[in-house]
Amino acid sequence: MVNLKTSIAGIPLESYFFNASGPKCMTLEELLALAASNSAVVMSKSSTFEPREGNPEPRYCNLEFGSINSMGLPNLGYKKYAEFAPLLKVQTTKPYFVSVSGLKLAENMEMLKYLSEIKDIDALELNLSCPNVIGKPQICYDFDQTREVLREIEKVAKKPLGLKLPPYFDFVHFEEAASIINKHNIAFVTCINSVGNALFIDPEKEVVVIKPKGGFGGLGGAYIKPIALANVRKFRELLRKEIQVIGVGGVDTGVDAFEFLLCGADAVQVGTTFQKEGVKCFARLETELKAYMFQKGYDDISDVKGKLKTL
Ligand code: DHB
Repeated sequence: MVNLKTSIAGIPLESYFFNASGPKCMTLEELLALAASNSAVVMSKSSTFEPREGNPEPRYCNLEFGSINSMGLPNLGYKKYAEFAPLLKVQTTKPYFVSVSGLKLAENMEMLKYLSEIKDIDALELNLSCPNVIGKPQICYDFDQTREVLREIEKVAKKPLGLKLPPYFDFVHFEEAASIINKHNIAFVTCINSVGNALFIDPEKEVVVIKPKGGFGGLGGAYIKPIALANVRKFRELLRKEIQVIGVGGVDTGVDAFEFLLCGADAVQVGTTFQKEGVKCFARLETELKAYMFQKGYDDISDVKGKLKTL
């Protein structure tokens, strides 16, 4: 039997796969469906200080090789994700992670402080890379701001804290981001958020496919897997070994997950494929990864983790 058990921030996970903060994790009903599924964690939609409707529709579009979205952080507000914690724990013993995406540093501070006191929340993922809030830059593309945010939030976050990072494309940027993160008490990074501000066009109709921001939105799915693998690999190389790396971006098959494992990912999240396929994707991905590892003679993710060969 191949063993896919892993752990994040010392919290045991039953398998290597869980949902990305993004699709189908906003309402209690959706979170309960995740609790009942093979997802190793229940991860919430990124929460803001106040509830938000998000951007005008259509704001999500499935594409042949992925998806494009400009949701604009629709969510029920952070207090609801705190209220849901004990309700989820009635249904499942699996961990509950809450994603936080304040529009200002003061909001992130307040939310992280409050959520840190909720017993049934196991970890927090601070999203510093939402590309879709109109007029707001992605914090992690501004290293001065990143430095300030990490310095401040460390004072209030009392649960294991992860950072959802945007994709980087330049080795100097990877090094600068990693050197900032290495100075702080961060349990894990999640690489990568969607590739921001892509543009998808329907040539027949000569029109964009989503409404907000003139059609620009975050690209996800198979299109971005090589970028996600590069980010996992590079951060694994540059971060202190105590900081774990979670991969996300184009995990659609067990073999995709195997590639993230070779790059050193401690777990992977599933976004676009979960949106397209629903909760049954988690059992399928587990079966596929186990079969692929079995065929190669591996018993445990530790046999493969970080073992990518170079030429
Ligand atoms: C949204 C998109 C993201 O990529 C993200 O990290 C958070 C929120 C959104 O538009 O809702």
